[in-house]
Amino acid sequence: MVNRIKKAVLPVAGLGTRFLPATKAVPKEMLTIVDRPVIQYVVDEAKAAGIEHIVFVTGRGKATIEDHFDIQPELEETLKARGKEAELAALAAELPAAGGVSFTRQQAPLGLGHAIWCAREIVGKEPFAVLLPDMLMRSEPGCLAQMMAAYDKHGGNVIALEETVPEKVHKYGIVALGAEDEAGVEITGMVEKPKREEAPSTFYISGRYILQPEIFQILETTQPGAGGEIQLTDGMIRLAERQRFTGVRFTGATFDCGAKAGFLAANVAYALERADIAAEFKAELKKTLGEAAIKQLLS
Ligand code: G1P
Repeated sequence: MVNRIKKAVLPVAGLGTRFLPATKAVPKEMLTIVDRPVIQYVVDEAKAAGIEHIVFVTGRGKATIEDHFDIQPELEETLKARGKEAELAALAAELPAAGGVSFTRQQAPLGLGHAIWCAREIVGKEPFAVLLPDMLMRSEPGCLAQMMAAYDKHGGNVIALEETVPEKVHKYGIVALGAEDEAGVEITGMVEKPKREEAPSTFYISGRYILQPEIFQILETTQPGAGGEIQLTDGMIRLAERQRFTGVRFTGATFDCGAKAGFLAANVAYALERADIAAEFKAELKKTLGEAAIKQLLS
């Protein structure tokens, strides 16, 4: 019987330099996909997988994330006075349970491994999930929920995998694959941001993890690796010497919202799925681009 995963760590300390000037005063995680901040979609994915407590690893200038996951009495009073019941209900549905979120700060940008290590006191001695909020993973059930099934069968550590092309392996953590069953594939090796000729496969770690708490002790002594940063993958390589890692091939759509093209594509994809605005949005696209151009664009 494996320990149920109740906590998820979301590292949100990054500066978002790729989105300047938008991110000068607004955290990149608060940029909107349609009408909700990116971070809200990731929190929803965690909640749908049974997560009860979200640990945000933040940094300076990220206070609006904290405000977003709190009540806003003035706004709620105004909505009430104006009879805006639907808006009120939507806000209430997204409010975390009291005590269901924690915030800690990564004081310096020392890498993803260091960011996760900053959550060690709040997570304690239990297995936990990590969700990288740049990556929006759209599927039903969600990516973390898909991974829970592999965790129930194999225990240990679980990571979501996707396939890329050899030209892009240097951007990711890349894995070597072993035996596979219906729940997932055994990970037999990992390397962070390898050169094309050194990559063991084209499967990359896509930003969702279930990890055992022993990772914290390891990260404490993990030296800077690729890019001069303390890498989570380097910690996982050491943990894999004594614990199993299972990979789950994610089936669904992934949007890298840390990059402009991925962020814009996510806005289009999510807008086209929204019953309340899809028709109007399609009409706007036709007007702007022309029907022939849309066909050409999508061909
Ligand atoms: C991080 C991880 C990497 C993973 C990637 C997914 O890299 O270190 O293993 O493949 O996220 O987006 P980063 O994007 O922070 O460079």
